[in-house]
Amino acid sequence: MVITVHTSSGQYDVIAEPGAAKTPERYLSLDRRVLIVTDRGVPKEYAARVAAACRAPVIVTVPVGEKSKSIRRWKVLHETMLKCGFTRNDCVVAVGGGVVGDLAGFAAATYMRGIDFYNIPTTLLSLVDSSVGGKTAVDLGGVKNPVGAFWPPKCVIADTELLSTLSPREYAAGMAESIKMAAALDADFFTALENGTPTPDEIVTRSILLKQRIVEADEREDGLRRVLNFGHTLGHGIESCGGRLHGECVALGMIPMCEGDVRERLVRTLSKYGLPTSCRISKKKVMRAVLHDKKTNENGTLTVVTVPKIGKYEFSDMTPDELRARLAVLS
Ligand code: GLY
Repeated sequence: MVITVHTSSGQYDVIAEPGAAKTPERYLSLDRRVLIVTDRGVPKEYAARVAAACRAPVIVTVPVGEKSKSIRRWKVLHETMLKCGFTRNDCVVAVGGGVVGDLAGFAAATYMRGIDFYNIPTTLLSLVDSSVGGKTAVDLGGVKNPVGAFWPPKCVIADTELLSTLSPREYAAGMAESIKMAAALDADFFTALENGTPTPDEIVTRSILLKQRIVEADEREDGLRRVLNFGHTLGHGIESCGGRLHGECVALGMIPMCEGDVRERLVRTLSKYGLPTSCRISKKKVMRAVLHDKKTNENGTLTVVTVPKIGKYEFSDMTPDELRARLAVLS
């Protein structure tokens, strides 16, 4: 299936087809200089396959993990492109997960005031969420994503065959983002995840269609797109304690943001897909990171996403004390 995402500057296709990454030249314009950015955790053949389809490829492999989303790595990508004579007509291809996509996308957004960017996500998390919507960024001063740009890709190859090399833990972490969108936006999809056994292709396609709907309605996150932050306020705080994958933290971060039957269904569904539903954390440490990361409103509250009913969301203002108290449900 080809899903076309409309943006303020044009449109791009998400090629949601198993096996599509085997023939990238069918979808991407590669007859030029191409910077391929990947990381050491991605099977080498994925980037090599793209390189084989390019006239003038240059592969840069960064270390695995959030630390690679840095100004230092961004500078290396720019220096590489300059040294190799990249012009405004050349392009960048990300072959990796969310970190690689954010870093490579931001390098493309800023090199010579912006060159073409393509994304070939290799994790479930990046397939269903971060590769669609045009957000690119690097971290700075211990804060996630303060330096970035909206720079939509020219094309995304969403090939579920690339997921065959993911560990079960990485796969589960990606499921957290699909469950997040289903819980907040699509009760039917949530029920399918809760009671059925949808295939990876069904999960990816339904998630991308939801993401498309949101980013087309609110490309720059002026309002509606903030719904995608469901689970992320406390999730980022939990992530800062270390030892857990982003998706695992999002899973944990969603639980205190709903109550009663909704919470029970969410916890059951997260468990079904191998995600954690409780944890031992220092509430103080989590809240310190939350308050460092997120701007509070003038009255000292934080705006968070809550899910009062499966498929419905609300934006709610909560005091730091209220958020701290809600963390108790995780222990
Ligand atoms: N990953 C959340 C967003 O794209 O807005």
